[in-house]
Amino acid sequence: MTKSIFVSSIFLSTVFPCSKFMKTKLVELDPIKPDSQILKRAGKILKNGGLVAFPTETVYGLGANGLDEEAARKTYLAKGRPSDNPLIIHIAKLEDLSAITKNLPVAAEGLARHFWPGPFTMIFEKSELVPYGTTGGLETVAVRIPENEIARKLILAAGGYVSAPSANISGKPSPTNARHVIEDLAGKIEMVLDGGQVSIGIESTILDMTVTPPMILRPGRITKEMIEDVIGPVETAEPMSGKDDQIAPKAPGMKYRHYAPEGALQIVKGEPLQEVAAIKYLVHEKIAAGYKVGIIASDETFSFYTEGIIKNLGGRNDEEEIGRNLYRILREFNEEKVAYIYSESFPGQGFGEAIRNRLDKAAGQAYLSAGEFLTDNI
Ligand code: TXA
Ligand code: MG
Repeated sequence: MTKSIFVSSIFLSTVFPCSKFMKTKLVELDPIKPDSQILKRAGKILKNGGLVAFPTETVYGLGANGLDEEAARKTYLAKGRPSDNPLIIHIAKLEDLSAITKNLPVAAEGLARHFWPGPFTMIFEKSELVPYGTTGGLETVAVRIPENEIARKLILAAGGYVSAPSANISGKPSPTNARHVIEDLAGKIEMVLDGGQVSIGIESTILDMTVTPPMILRPGRITKEMIEDVIGPVETAEPMSGKDDQIAPKAPGMKYRHYAPEGALQIVKGEPLQEVAAIKYLVHEKIAAGYKVGIIASDETFSFYTEGIIKNLGGRNDEEEIGRNLYRILREFNEEKVAYIYSESFPGQGFGEAIRNRLDKAAGQAYLSAGEFLTDNI
């Protein structure tokens, strides 16, 4: 069954005084057998230069025609994103790759066979077909074939090339359900396809194929080990500290503060039980000073806390669960208007590396050492 409603934003005129008021259509779709009529309509919106948000297995994307410069301009405006930060073009069939790229490296084929469709993006030299508006002025283009059924059918209905950044306001946590998209983009885009909760919750791995050896620009569900099993050694780009904006980052998006909750997030590092003790101390102090405080805990430690707004990210070693919960929890803290958030640290192996990367970015690399707060008073 398909349900649709209209959502609009009364704040639109304050945020974008020049833009026209727009009604955003929210349509629920069956994630396994999505209604083809709806997809056709959504595809037509994209073909006509409009914006449609849609689910992928990683996060919700803000779709536009990837070959249309004007559609890219609208994407940047809706997200409030700087236009030097390029978009990923999503395709549905491997055959469509050659039209938008040049000089494809041999290794790309094996990687595509292993990881497409899926949470994996590769960067290649772009062909003339791809406008600079989509690539933020770069000679390269990022490409992904997503696995999500709604995403793939929408791409086909739209003509094959859909640019899609995460469907959030720039700087906010990426959306993992349609409600998050509405929170950020209602009144600014034509349609949101609601395919339910995403299954991964962390954006795709990005591998730059234009350098030798290829370089991971953003860690994700497809890990370094998985890539190396297919093509041998690859490198990983150094994470940007956020302070050194003089250095040109490998992925332009890396220089911007990302995934940030509104409250000040700090990660407390130490042995798990030390972390709990230190967080309890910090939370108690801040509450006594009159602040609202959030805690990011785990299955194993959740019940130790007695004060503050406590959120359970999942089992400490269950990266899949942590990945699905992270952005939702960061958004919930925004709704609850906490002033401070203290997070336990989480192991960073395999997919855990991607989770740690996002948590670090959300915290703006703010760490506290648990040992510093351990006194007899705790
Ligand atoms: O999982 C995902 O990748 C999601 C879903 C919707 O597919 N999309 C996504 O897009 O995360 P976005 O725009 O939020 O992040 C894309 C990142 C940005 O940091 C951007 O700078 C980088 O990819 N990027 C895109 N094209 C690039 C290029 N040609 N060279 C280097 N970095 C590029
Ligand atoms: Mg993003």
